[in-house]
Amino acid sequence: MVVVMKIATARDDFPTLRAGKGVYLDSACQSLRPDSVIEAITEYYTECPTCSGRSVHGMAAAVSVRIDETRETLAGFFGTDDPNCYVFTRNCTEGLNTVAYGLGLKRGDTVVTSDAEHNSNNIPWIMLAEASGVGRRMSVSGEDGEFDIESFKERMGRDVKLVSVQHCSNVTGCVTPVKAVAEIARDFGAKVLIDGSQAAPHLKVDLDGIDADFYSLSVHKMLGPSGMGILYGKEEELMRLRPLMFGGGAAGRTGYDTAELAPVPDRFEAGLQDYAGIFGTKAALDYLSAIGFDAIVAHERELMRLIFSELEDVPGLSVVGPSDPDRRCGIYSFNIDGLMSHDIAMILDNADAIMIRSGMHCAHPFFGSKGVAGSARASTYLYNNGSDIRRFASAVRKVAEQLGDH
Ligand code: ALA
Repeated sequence: MVVVMKIATARDDFPTLRAGKGVYLDSACQSLRPDSVIEAITEYYTECPTCSGRSVHGMAAAVSVRIDETRETLAGFFGTDDPNCYVFTRNCTEGLNTVAYGLGLKRGDTVVTSDAEHNSNNIPWIMLAEASGVGRRMSVSGEDGEFDIESFKERMGRDVKLVSVQHCSNVTGCVTPVKAVAEIARDFGAKVLIDGSQAAPHLKVDLDGIDADFYSLSVHKMLGPSGMGILYGKEEELMRLRPLMFGGGAAGRTGYDTAELAPVPDRFEAGLQDYAGIFGTKAALDYLSAIGFDAIVAHERELMRLIFSELEDVPGLSVVGPSDPDRRCGIYSFNIDGLMSHDIAMILDNADAIMIRSGMHCAHPFFGSKGVAGSARASTYLYNNGSDIRRFASAVRKVAEQLGDH
């Protein structure tokens, strides 16, 4: 049965909002969770708190069934055919590292990223360079921090074995043209890994259409449980990839000196898994599907336009990234002259119960390259409304007028 829900009443489904805990504008860090996700997590612990894939009793079988259903839901959600192309991870970072260390990259190979990546798509390449001499080149972002496809093309060459870029920036909200990136990478015989953590919650992601080899994301940014992520890989790529960890549940027949790996995707899920997290993941995907991405995209666009119009004449306020709200995908990063970003965030929280993030958002090299010390960042999601935005804008205006340099 297809369930359809209205975005206008979605707020009622979130206990944190019903409890009036304030204005939450930090969803790029973690989203809030609806009742259905919390109930699914509880269902695991109350109904079948057991292990999948080992024991043959009924409670264990119920867990296995839900895992299969969750992978099927993932395949439907992301527009692919094969549920076995989805690996459960702890977060997007684990997926990125699994690919970084699993491809067998060596000295003479090069990875291409952009210069605006999150630390999770930056540090693994630094470590691989130190450990194995793997090279890295970076495309240089454009004026607004957006991905520059011409600069990217200039970094490509036959030595490039992997292109690894973010789908959407957690600093500027700019969206990378990942389909075009994947096409160019393929022309050079390179594999493609996408960091989808900021895109998957906010955009309809069609993995077949993008045609990347790997796509990693964090479920806790898309209404799901904390500490859950997904690594998607094409079946033939997952078959070639060496897992990051080995152990129970991830092996076939083993001896003292030999071990067969389990089929894909089980070989990437060594040890007992976060089964409650998997239950919650399915509930989160079902919830998002019931709202629909047409509604989510349109709603978030309206919210971003409202932020820009409410804040356009605030003295001393500057925006990090594009000044066109339609290019921002749920992210509004800003500074106020004379104030540190952490001070802005603390004042908003203490004075008005408005929760945003501040600092460098794990994108230190990007801020360093621009000579900017960080930013305050408001990030929206489907449960925010115009009243949230007006409260936020009025609080920012007050801070700028009373405490900023202007
Ligand atoms: N990467 C997450 C953020 O942007 C944690 O807040």
